[in-house]
Amino acid sequence: MSVIDEIKQKTDIVDIVSQYTSLKKAGRNLTALCPFHSEKRPSFFVYPEQQSWHCFGACNSGGDVFSFVMKKQGIDFGETLRLLGQRAGVTIPSRFEPDARKDERERLYQANETAAQYFHNLLLNSPAAEKARNYLASRSISAKTVSDFQLGFSLNSWEALKQYLLERGYAESELLEAGLLVETEDGKTHDRFRHRLIFPINDSRSHTTGFGARVLDDSLPKYLNSPQTPAFDKSSSLYGINLAAPAIRQQNQAVIVEGYTDVITAHQNGFTNVVATMGTAVTEKQLTFLKKLSNAGKIALALDADAAGEEATLRSINYENSLDIEVKFVILPKGKDPDDVIREDSQTWQAMVDGALPVVDYTFTRDESLAIDRLLPIIAMIKDDLRRDRYLTKLAELSGHAYKKLELESTLQGYLTRQKVKEPKSAAVARVVHSLHSSPLEEYCLALLLQHLQLKNKNEGLLAEYFENSENREVFTAWQQTDDLSSLKAWLDTTIWEHLDALINKKIPSNRIEQKYANCVLRLREKFLRALETKKGAALTLEAETGGTVAEMAKLKEQGIEVSTQLREVFTQKASRDWEQRR
Ligand code: GTP
Ligand code: MN
Repeated sequence: MSVIDEIKQKTDIVDIVSQYTSLKKAGRNLTALCPFHSEKRPSFFVYPEQQSWHCFGACNSGGDVFSFVMKKQGIDFGETLRLLGQRAGVTIPSRFEPDARKDERERLYQANETAAQYFHNLLLNSPAAEKARNYLASRSISAKTVSDFQLGFSLNSWEALKQYLLERGYAESELLEAGLLVETEDGKTHDRFRHRLIFPINDSRSHTTGFGARVLDDSLPKYLNSPQTPAFDKSSSLYGINLAAPAIRQQNQAVIVEGYTDVITAHQNGFTNVVATMGTAVTEKQLTFLKKLSNAGKIALALDADAAGEEATLRSINYENSLDIEVKFVILPKGKDPDDVIREDSQTWQAMVDGALPVVDYTFTRDESLAIDRLLPIIAMIKDDLRRDRYLTKLAELSGHAYKKLELESTLQGYLTRQKVKEPKSAAVARVVHSLHSSPLEEYCLALLLQHLQLKNKNEGLLAEYFENSENREVFTAWQQTDDLSSLKAWLDTTIWEHLDALINKKIPSNRIEQKYANCVLRLREKFLRALETKKGAALTLEAETGGTVAEMAKLKEQGIEVSTQLREVFTQKASRDWEQRR
């Protein structure tokens, strides 16, 4: 049995939902005031037999226990799995790396976390940290922020941390590997971070992966970072992500800044969807992660005016191609970083983020004379015809029609013919795994979609909510968002990879694919509507029993009629299809 199945088996949706709203019995089912919106009369139902839920009110949606927790907590599938797994006492194995390497990493996280606590404690309590505390006060960083970000202080000593951690059973070799110690030429080791303000860096699961450390005066280097270690990879880390993830998910927007202090000031002022790169250009890994987290929402970059050079711009267009994402740029006043702007006036910052510009407009505001020459070659690389055309129109407009769109287009065609479009790589072939709890229809449909990516252009009106299983729903959503199997994998939590591979490898004869797909969607819709009808029936009975108001009865009835109308449509379509197939 897969861990997902095991967790489902050991989890009762009734127990979970009861934590958020008080359920009352309603025949075989349970009802409550909807925990997702405020209402006076209950329109939220839990169906213990199916282990599912549905809200007939403002939400008008439903699903299984996973989708309930995801929606309620604002977390993704993987996190939900871990949460429910923990609760059910099911450990989630990571099949995707050897245990030894994983243990090693866990050990480094532990060393880092112990070090972070040590530094934090020093900052709060040590007389030696007086200067650091004053420094933070001078930058108006509050006690709550110090605690939220676990800021710390390292003593002006070569061995203080080393001794502390050795006493706690860590080996010198581990501390070296974690980057907490530095090895000198004569083979001796000493603390890397000395007499500095410490910024622990966490991943989205709140493991401490590394550190940034700032001097307290204007000596150099201003910041020291952990080196690349098995636990810390600068190019994929985002400072503040552990605190920002819920807001990014809720607002469907992420803002990327450059500095630790920018993140800290932003959060302290209520802008909790802000994260920072580690002083490097934003990478594909970082954007992929944020795209997924924000549900393909908005991503804005707020880079120092001088740092956001040609290269950053160029890269962002590349990402728009490969990740299918539009990155916008926040225009910062010269010589100011987000920290300065927010501390001056947080309203201004909000306005700047709202007014973030797409790359073409942004490049124009920065350097009009060079904008065309810079942008044309990279616009030529855009694969999406519509988007490319939109950019060209914009470019002509922004140049005050000094360049005609046609002219621009022919120059661009020149670049185009010289380029070859890369074929998407197919995902690694893995063994077929049998899934116990499978919902064959849902899986058949997904297998079709995954094996015939061209079906994406066939709009049969398939909706995510037709998939009752959260893992299937996840796969479908990822399929909607991406164009090739490898980026699809990047979207999905690793716990779903096995399931995904099974779908990709499911044997389906490759004839009449489009017909199969259309049939499949029809059957899924029917299944969905039938389930909805049954659930609605229960809701109506309850309303009648408890003396629901006339208006509400009418509304539910009306919705009932809508469902049956839709069902009738399905039947008509099915009948005509059967007929066609028999001919
Ligand atoms: P404050 O001066 O305290 O406001 O810091 P800041 O976060 O605004 O730093 P700044 O804008 O100068 O730099 C942005 C980011 O680049 C920092 O947060 C660091 O991640 C990185 N950075 C800056 N200086 C150095 C350095 O000397 N070495 C390294 N490794 N990184 C640096
Ligand atoms: Mn700064």
